[in-house]
Amino acid sequence: MDQEFLILTDPANGKQIELPVLRPTQGPPVIDIGRLHREMGYFTYDPGFLATASCHSTITFIDGDEGILQYRGYPIEQLAEQSNFLETSYLMMYGELPRPEQLEEFHNIMTHHSMLNESLKSFFRGFYHDAHPMAIMVGVVGSLSAFYHDSTDITNPRHREIAAYRMIAKMPSIAAASYKHTIGEPQVYPDNSLSFTGNLLKMMFSVPCEEYHVNPVAEKALDLIFLLHIDHEQNASTSTVRLAGSSQANPFACIASGIAALWGPAHGGANEAVLSMLEEIGDVKNIPEYLARARDKNDPFRLMGFGHRVYKNYDPRARIIRKMCHEVLKDMGDESDPLFELAIRLEEIALSDDYFIARKLYPNVDFYSGLIYRALGIPTSMFTVMFAIARTVGWVAQWMEMIGEDNLRIGRPRQLYVGPVQRDYVQMDKR
Ligand code: SDX
Repeated sequence: MDQEFLILTDPANGKQIELPVLRPTQGPPVIDIGRLHREMGYFTYDPGFLATASCHSTITFIDGDEGILQYRGYPIEQLAEQSNFLETSYLMMYGELPRPEQLEEFHNIMTHHSMLNESLKSFFRGFYHDAHPMAIMVGVVGSLSAFYHDSTDITNPRHREIAAYRMIAKMPSIAAASYKHTIGEPQVYPDNSLSFTGNLLKMMFSVPCEEYHVNPVAEKALDLIFLLHIDHEQNASTSTVRLAGSSQANPFACIASGIAALWGPAHGGANEAVLSMLEEIGDVKNIPEYLARARDKNDPFRLMGFGHRVYKNYDPRARIIRKMCHEVLKDMGDESDPLFELAIRLEEIALSDDYFIARKLYPNVDFYSGLIYRALGIPTSMFTVMFAIARTVGWVAQWMEMIGEDNLRIGRPRQLYVGPVQRDYVQMDKR
C-alpha cells in the first residue's frame, strides 16, 4: 500500500506539512508527528496521553470500545480458560506459546531464581512493622540494583534475559517477605516442589512450627488472577517502566519505578481502595448516597473499581474475575460474604445510573479482584502487591521489547509553557 499522509495547514501562514499515517495490524492508525516541530514549529498537546501512542509494540492489544484484550494475539478469554500464569508469562516474554520442553525449562528457571540473597533479608528489618507492604516492595526491588552485577549490561540480550528471570522469580519471595515483616513472623524460604502461586501462598501463610498444605482452590484462583494482570498495553506503570528504561537505567530500578506508579489508587491501588470503599458503604441502603457523591463534581469521591481510560465497555478481565469470585466464595465457604453481595448490588445499580451510562463507566479488573484476594485470606494491604507480582511479567516483557530495539532513544516529552515571560531579578530592598 502506498504511504498515506495527513496534510496539516498552519493557520498563521498557510504553510502545509504531510504527516505519514502509520497503519497497525489491529486498532486505530497513528499520525507520525516526528517532523512537526522541526518543520512547522508546533508541539502537540495531550495531557494524560488520551490519544498519544508512545511506542509501537507487539505484546498486548486492547479494543476499549469492544472490551477486547489479547496477549500476543491470543484472546484473554482463551488464555484464562486453557493456559496458566507461567505458560502465558513465557508467551509474553518470547512471543509464542512454549513447547513442552520450553515450558519445563522456563518453570525450572523460575523455580531456581526464587531465593533472595541472604544479605537482602536485613533490608526488610530496616522497615518499621507498620510499613505498607508496597512501600517495602518498592524499596527492596530498587535495592536489587545493588546486586547481580553479572547481568546488568542491558546491551547484552543474555543479561536482559537473566535480569528478567530474576525479577519475575523473586517478586513472590519479596512480596511474602514484605508481608511477613509486617506481621512479625519469620521469612519462609521458597519450596521448589510447589507451583508459582502455591509457593507464594506457602511463603506468606506457613509458619515454621507446623505443616502447611496449599489449598488447590486458592492456588488455581491466584494463578488465574495473576494471568489476567500480566500486562495491559501502555498503562501508567508500564509507561513509567519504559520511560525509566529509555535512559538505560538498571533494570531492577526500572521495575521499582513501575511498582511506585502502580501503587496509586487511580491505578493498581484501586483493588485495595475498592475494599475500603465497600466497607465504608457498609450496606445496600447506603448505595444511593455514595452514587450521588460519585456524581458530585465537588466531591472527590469516585466509585473505585469503576471506569477506565481505555475500556468504554466491560473490562473483559472483570467478567472473568466476577465469575471466578462466585466459584471461590462457594469453594472457600464464604458465599454469603456481605461485601460480595454489596458489590453485586452496587454494580447493578451503578450500571443502570445515567451518570455512569453516559460516561461508559463499567467495572474494571480491580472491582472484583480484591474480593477474591479477601476470600483467599490475603490481607487488604497486600492486594496491590499481588497485582505487582503479576504485572512484573508485563513490565519486563515491555522493557525487553524496548531495550532490544535498534534505535532506543530517551523519552523526553515537551510542554505548553504558561509561566511568566522573561523578567529581571529584583534586589531584596526593591521587593
Ligand atoms: C487499572 O490503564 C490501565 O490499563 C490500568 C489497568 C491495568 O491493567 O494496568 O487496567 C488497571 O488501573 C484499572 C483502573 C483502576 N482505577 C480505579 O478503579 C479508580 C476509579 N476510576 C477512576 O479514577 C477513573 O475511571 C480512571 C482513573 C480509571 C480513568 O480516568 P480517566 O480515563 O482519566 O477518566 P476521567 O477521569 O477523565 O473520567 C471521565 C469522566 C469524568 O467525569 P466528567 O468530568 O466527564 O463529568 O468520568 C468520571 C470523571 O469524573 N469518572 C468517574 C469515575 N471514573 C471516571 N466518576 C465516578 N467514579 C469513577 N470511578
